[in-house]
Amino acid sequence: MGLVDVLPMNWEGGALGGCSLSDLAETYGTPLYVVDERHVVDRLAAFQRAFGSDAVTAYAAKAFFCVAMAELLAAAGWWVDVVSGGELATALAGGIDPGRIVVHGNVKTDAEIEQAIIAGVGRIVIDDPVEMSRLIEIAAGRQVRTMLRLNIEVGADTHPKIRTTGSEAQFGMSEQQADEAITRLDRVAGHGITLHGLHIHIGSQLRDPQIHRMALDQVMAFAETRRDRFTGKVIDVDVGGGFGVPYVDDDPVIPIESYAAVLTAAVDEHVNLRLMIEPGRSVIANAGVTLYRAMSRKGSERPFLAVDGGISDNPRPALYDARYEMRSITRADSPHDIPFRVVGRHCETSDRLGEMLLPGDTVPGDLLVMPATGAYAHAMASRYNMLPRRPVIFVADGQARVAVPGETLDDLVR
Ligand code: LLP
Repeated sequence: MGLVDVLPMNWEGGALGGCSLSDLAETYGTPLYVVDERHVVDRLAAFQRAFGSDAVTAYAAKAFFCVAMAELLAAAGWWVDVVSGGELATALAGGIDPGRIVVHGNVKTDAEIEQAIIAGVGRIVIDDPVEMSRLIEIAAGRQVRTMLRLNIEVGADTHPKIRTTGSEAQFGMSEQQADEAITRLDRVAGHGITLHGLHIHIGSQLRDPQIHRMALDQVMAFAETRRDRFTGKVIDVDVGGGFGVPYVDDDPVIPIESYAAVLTAAVDEHVNLRLMIEPGRSVIANAGVTLYRAMSRKGSERPFLAVDGGISDNPRPALYDARYEMRSITRADSPHDIPFRVVGRHCETSDRLGEMLLPGDTVPGDLLVMPATGAYAHAMASRYNMLPRRPVIFVADGQARVAVPGETLDDLVR
């Protein structure tokens, strides 16, 4: 617990991955997403060590994705979970083995299903019985490896908007519908569709490994009672992502080893079940920071400090009441003890990054950094108010490279 857990591993004063943040802001402008590449690589290895080589680690591309990220995952031998034709194309462009791609989504267009079949993806996760029928039709006898997404009730204790199972969530199917989906396969001869496992994703930012365990137990019980319906001896039990990370310095830190110990022990109580996980946020959130320039200051009591970005580069505070920290790069050594209401530049009151403690003499022109923005910030960025989306810079060993170029005004006009 502390700011050190929130910051990327290779943070040193005003530098990240050996690159000066002030220099990066000068070169590329602000707001700017900066990702500590070594942190990502270390984190990928830490997951693999913790869960062991018997488990499948699949990265949830939705948290943050680009070709450079896919290349890091390919080099580490990770699988990737995608939910759109765009994520699939990016995974393939980054050299991910198609057999290690899991295709998710409660809505998959016919074109996306066709794209996945042609690519030869490792798994298509069927969301409901009707989708199973569509898949049988589109596949027209071609080989497709599938899993079923279950929707079960577990008391996932997180923000309702990021809870993804139970009767209030639109994802996956009940046990009865799963049986119906399996039955649809029986009705068609020569369909080429094989069933390899079950999937569940209960929610995000969950901090009690026992919640994952409860969900996994239900999935395993379902698998055990229908063993003969699956193809092959080993059934995959995919417990999704949702492992919690620290965003602010008093957030608890749950080591990935704690989730791994609980989940691998649960699977080890069975034979011929293979554990799969799909972390997104817990791989990338703390690897990334966003740089902002302070642009205006108003008022004396809890002053407003407006920065040059906001809801367009990070909608999370407005959407989920997400909390973040902010540090001054310009006044790094001054005490951060005055509360500011840090707001963005968009024309709505909800464009707030949060209440932040900053040096009292912070003025327009100061450079600020907001840590823990690696996940679901760039990924959810918009062009609201016709602002071009901002670049992502990867830094490592004193070198910076553009992982995602920023958009230009020409891009917007086009
Ligand atoms: N697998 C599936 C099927 C998912 O739907 C998700 C996230 C994940 C894995 C990865 O979950 P993670 O490990 O990243 O928590 N925009 C929200 C998060 C929505 C996540 C939805 N699904 C946010 O900014 O908090």
